Amino acid sequence: MADHWVENHKRDSWRRQAKASGYRARSAFKLKQIQERFNLVRDGDFVLDVGCHPGGWAQVAVELVGEQGRVVGVDLQPCAPVEGAVLLTGDITDSITQERILSELGGELLNVIVSDISPDITGKWDMDQSVALTLVADVMDFSLPLLRKGGGFTTKLFQGVGVDELIQAVQPHFSSVRRFSPDASRNSSSEVYLVCKHHTPWKAPKATIRARFEEAMDQLLGGNDLEDEPEPTPSSFQVRRRKVAGEFEEH
Ligand SMILES: C[S@@+](CC[C@H](N)C(=O)[O-])C[C@H]1O[C@@H](n2cnc3c(N)ncnc32)[C@H](O)[C@@H]1O
Repeated sequence: MADHWVENHKRDSWRRQAKASGYRARSAFKLKQIQERFNLVRDGDFVLDVGCHPGGWAQVAVELVGEQGRVVGVDLQPCAPVEGAVLLTGDITDSITQERILSELGGELLNVIVSDISPDITGKWDMDQSVALTLVADVMDFSLPLLRKGGGFTTKLFQGVGVDELIQAVQPHFSSVRRFSPDASRNSSSEVYLVCKHHTPWKAPKATIRARFEEAMDQLLGGNDLEDEPEPTPSSFQVRRRKVAGEFEEH
């Protein structure tokens, strides 16, 4: 009970700070703390904010990139405007939304991708966590080809089975891949941020991150041990029927 009270108190404290400083969500402090530690975004950068609603990270990103920079955000939910950012509504895994992002980029490459994406929670932790990791893999497969050489990426992950496998699949794409728990999310022990720096597209394997992640998960969980339809084994065995006193006997 006491732990629960402390957690709620901390969460409220970040919420109060967010309100006092004009940020729409306490999550704004998570990106600020990632920035303090890793210096991910620079003045003049072009940033893609994935899962941007209600706009806390977009507000921070606009401050960080300054007047010469650009911020494009995307979320399933419509976001109230953030001055200095273009915020799109749509599913990032959907090809129509992806086309709209590409058209906003206008052929320019990104310096940084920040993703706080979290899918709808069903309450079944294992399933939620695996859906969330697969979504992150999909976000990376779509967005990494849009990231400049040397660029940075951060994403939220939910802790549990598969995190190590996803990190292994991401590692060839960057020279540095680190886990980080900002103070602002310490009360939510289930989440951790992956902070990737120095994009190395020339080292990227041909197979997608999702394919390599799923293959690693199959190996981990033994998912490939089961065949869908086992092949029949050839045999010389035959059923011959002989009529005996008006009935059939099987051999
Ligand atoms: C924790 S919130 C993001 C908070 C945001 N960073 C901020 O500071 O205001 C996660 C968001 O991910 C979005 N999301 C989940 N799946 C998505 C998808 N497939 N495409 C786009 N956004 C998605 C949700 O709608 C939700 O608003």
